[in-house]
Amino acid sequence: DVVYRKFGGCNTVSIIDRYITKSKINIVIKNISHTLRKDFFMCGIIGYIGTKKCVPKLIGALEALEYRGYDSAGVAYIKNGNVEIKKEKGKIKNLKDTLDMDVDAYIGIGHTRWATHGEANNINAHPHKNGKVTLVHNGIIENYIEIKEDLKKKGYKFTSETDTEVAAALLDELYSKNSDMVKSLHEASKIIRGSYAFVILVDGDDNIYASRCASPMIVAIGNDGYYVASDVPAILAYTNKYMLLNDYDIVKLSKDKIEIYDKDLNEIEKEIKFFEGSMDAATKGGFEHFMLKEINEQDKVFKDTVNYYFDGTIKSLEKSFSYLKNFKKIDIVACGSAYHTGVVGKYLIENYANIPVNVEVASEYRYKKCFYDKDTLVVLVSQSGETADTLAALRKAKVDGITTMAIVNVVGSSIAREADYVTYIKAGFEIAVATTKAYLAQLAIFSLIALYLGYENKNINENEFNELVKEYNNLPALIKETINNDNYSTIADKIYDKKQIFFIGRGIDYALSLEASLKLKEISYINSVAYQAGELKHGTISLIEKDTPVIAISTDDSLREKTISNIKEVKARGAYVVYVTNETPQEKFYDDIITIKKIHPILESILTIIPLQLLSYKVAKDNGCDIDKPRNLAKSVTVE
Ligand code: F6R
Repeated sequence: DVVYRKFGGCNTVSIIDRYITKSKINIVIKNISHTLRKDFFMCGIIGYIGTKKCVPKLIGALEALEYRGYDSAGVAYIKNGNVEIKKEKGKIKNLKDTLDMDVDAYIGIGHTRWATHGEANNINAHPHKNGKVTLVHNGIIENYIEIKEDLKKKGYKFTSETDTEVAAALLDELYSKNSDMVKSLHEASKIIRGSYAFVILVDGDDNIYASRCASPMIVAIGNDGYYVASDVPAILAYTNKYMLLNDYDIVKLSKDKIEIYDKDLNEIEKEIKFFEGSMDAATKGGFEHFMLKEINEQDKVFKDTVNYYFDGTIKSLEKSFSYLKNFKKIDIVACGSAYHTGVVGKYLIENYANIPVNVEVASEYRYKKCFYDKDTLVVLVSQSGETADTLAALRKAKVDGITTMAIVNVVGSSIAREADYVTYIKAGFEIAVATTKAYLAQLAIFSLIALYLGYENKNINENEFNELVKEYNNLPALIKETINNDNYSTIADKIYDKKQIFFIGRGIDYALSLEASLKLKEISYINSVAYQAGELKHGTISLIEKDTPVIAISTDDSLREKTISNIKEVKARGAYVVYVTNETPQEKFYDDIITIKKIHPILESILTIIPLQLLSYKVAKDNGCDIDKPRNLAKSVTVE
């Protein structure tokens, strides 16, 4: 409560962090941080002011941001001195179909929504206008009901269920007193509790205003104008020059200048950054879907990730991972597919490094009693580096004084910035909502950690190490071969219309089953479950009937016989069995087989996941699903 009041009711961790540093009252922080902390920054926002017509710019940026949500989309622009708003339920394409792309407007804002307050319909879609203020918003205003009641008493009316419309009204009220939007945003920051990135148009004013608190936002400089956006991909088709904003920064974009003010309303200069990655990620490069393109990039992603940390010598691994030797226990914490890489990581690290590894889903970990201590390393795995639950788990560990390490794709993301150690995967932008290449790159990092610690523990000797170096070098070619060696379509054709599909495996193959099953269900909407092969008979086997697909994974020689017995159990009950293996079976206990090359167990899962990714892709395609943007999902899950 002390912190809460002292900082004007705004409960962001950056504030709490500042407070920790200033006053060192950790005990207070410890008690409040888990309950106060929330990050809500799904949705994508954009603003453009310049010499080019704004609608194509806004739509292009929104398309690049669609991974942040696609429940509705909208734009507002100034035409003949008036603000016009267009919005439409569903994907950006729906909005685009209703727009005049050539409209004579040079100042505009846009939004793609992942619904939080109110259903996904046209009324709740952004932009929202109240009085003179038109606004798009990314975040959640926690005290919006309080503010709304107050504004209602003052005569404000509301049509939507959103917190955003309340922010528009609040800013209108402040603006009607101040006639200055920068000052009004500053005052609003003292009233609003929660998180926001706002981009704003004001009636009768030819500028764009923006501000943020706990939701990300950048300002970008193009040759033909200026942009504000929630993320770098939004502006990459126009420019690679951008500046990062801090909490409470306020931006005023005019035709010929950018003004930025800090939380005390001092005008400040920002460092200009240049995005140096490839812009190819934003296009499908001839592939039908981003997911297929990203699956096809995996040989390069593996190579880029491994080469960054490993030049074939133990010294190179030592440089990046020597601190790992200080820990006796590891907690791996993540969500979804990133959690699944953690399960593979557990098997690898426990087998080769002899260190006990506990893997937990972040949304559970953040609220549970943790038995970690100074010998524990908490490893957070996240492609986006912004997943709210993973970030909260990281902060919980930090508040408790536990060392943290993050395996992240997005450079400079919150998780990467806040962890004590960071290991970046080199996957590049991942656009498809269902992860593939980032998952594979995370597996590559866990393989390197197991290799390093295994060597240090003498579980891997010099000869085995040298053999493994060769395998790392050969793997990109094998990955390519596995992607191209496609007999997965015929299998997909046999299972695409089934109601449920089972995946089974033991040990590390069970870990892969988890990911294979998630991949299938999230993009094809077919119910799918992954089971430890030996566990099936304890209940779930009652679901197996004639032609129920069971995909059985077996790459671990030591568990093979047991897995084959389990396969026979389901086969005897009529299942249609696909056997995914790196062996040549002596008998035919399956219906179809997918054979993967046999390589060292540290690397085998990297190869095995590929056919399973492609199988899911093809099943979803057979079902005519929207593969890159499955329903109800978003790429960055920044809500709890
Ligand atoms: C599934 C998928 C998700 C993410 C999860 C965590 O294909 O992509 O399950 O793995 O939402 O996201 P990150 O890795 O960004 O923390």
